[in-house]
Amino acid sequence: MKKKNFWKNKKVFITGVAGFVGSNLAKNLIKDGAKIIGLTKNKKINSLLYIEKIDRKIDLIFGEITDKELIKNIFLKNKIDICFHLAAQVEVGAARQYPYSTWETNVRGTYTFLEVIRESKQKIRSIIVASSDKAYGDYPLKKLPYKENYELKPQFPYDTSKACADMIAKSYSSKLFKLPILITRFSNIYGPGQLNFTALIPDAIRSCILKKKFNVRSNGQAIRDFVYIDDIIQLYKLLSKNLYLNPKKFSGQVFNAGTNTKYRIIDIIDKIFIFAKKKRELKIIHRTIKKNKTRGELSVQFMDYDKIFRYVGWKPKYNFSKTLPIIFKWYKKYLRKL
Ligand SMILES: NC(=O)c1ccc[n+]([C@@H]2O[C@H](COP(=O)([O-])OP(=O)(O)OC[C@H]3O[C@@H](n4cnc5c(N)ncnc54)[C@H](O)[C@@H]3O)[C@@H](O)[C@H]2O)c1
Repeated sequence: MKKKNFWKNKKVFITGVAGFVGSNLAKNLIKDGAKIIGLTKNKKINSLLYIEKIDRKIDLIFGEITDKELIKNIFLKNKIDICFHLAAQVEVGAARQYPYSTWETNVRGTYTFLEVIRESKQKIRSIIVASSDKAYGDYPLKKLPYKENYELKPQFPYDTSKACADMIAKSYSSKLFKLPILITRFSNIYGPGQLNFTALIPDAIRSCILKKKFNVRSNGQAIRDFVYIDDIIQLYKLLSKNLYLNPKKFSGQVFNAGTNTKYRIIDIIDKIFIFAKKKRELKIIHRTIKKNKTRGELSVQFMDYDKIFRYVGWKPKYNFSKTLPIIFKWYKKYLRKL
């Protein structure tokens, strides 16, 4: 017997739909027959949403996540089943420079969104709120990978903004408000459609393809974990569906996800430049990187998937080396068209 397609005709509201994760999620859900309403801030941003003309297949709304009237109207005009709250100011450097606008979007944006849902007469069945591994703050290597019950003790602005959003979401899911909310804390996501070139992987790949000098911002020794976008999209769908079908078990839950692999930043740079056959450039990077100082970044971050595997049976299918040919091909095609 053919399995029933859960997503068919589900009305899904994605905030931050033109972002890296949002556009990939919309693309995937459309294929499954979901009806997407998406909110994004700017008309003209570089996004997979426009490159692949996904915008034509969704109901796209432009505006601020902090605009309560606008969000209220979206819920008044549409019968929504499922929400993914992804809109955020995600640039760590920009957050250090402009903390105020980062608090506005990431903190006020989150409580505005959840407050509208609380006040709304609609019964939304599943709300995923994207927090981040950065919300945990600084833990020594021996305490990692992070566990979901660790105290959130961030210091830097982006990290703090995500921890605030995380706790606000938890409060809305509590006994008092009882919204069906699940919080995700994922490690660094990468893959096709990531067009934020302040992020390490797009920046390094673009340098290789365009033969441009690659500036490393740190000494390259920080440890990070990188999880592939397709794995994350599958996971978001799985979590959202489980929350919808079994709110008692999933509401108020927090889930970490990463690949449980410890990469130093320089390891990632090595892999990218070796794949691109840029050994001479890599030598120069190795020489200069030693002089760099690392400021305002956590030294160690990686995530396992123990809890998430126990709950929904998810584990990552991809590892970084396996995805290199796919992402190089994607960025080459993208950069050629510019
Ligand atoms: N990409 C990662 O590595 C990663 C890892 C962990 C968690 N996250 C979280 O996942 C979510 C999505 O991340 P992403 O990489 O897709 O980010 P992104 O920057 O690519 O997308 C963010 C989206 O939010 C929108 N946005 C920003 N400010 C807004 C505002 N004031 N009002 C309305 N919309 C606004 C942008 O227009 C964009 O569409 C974020 O909440 C982020 O914190 C991302």
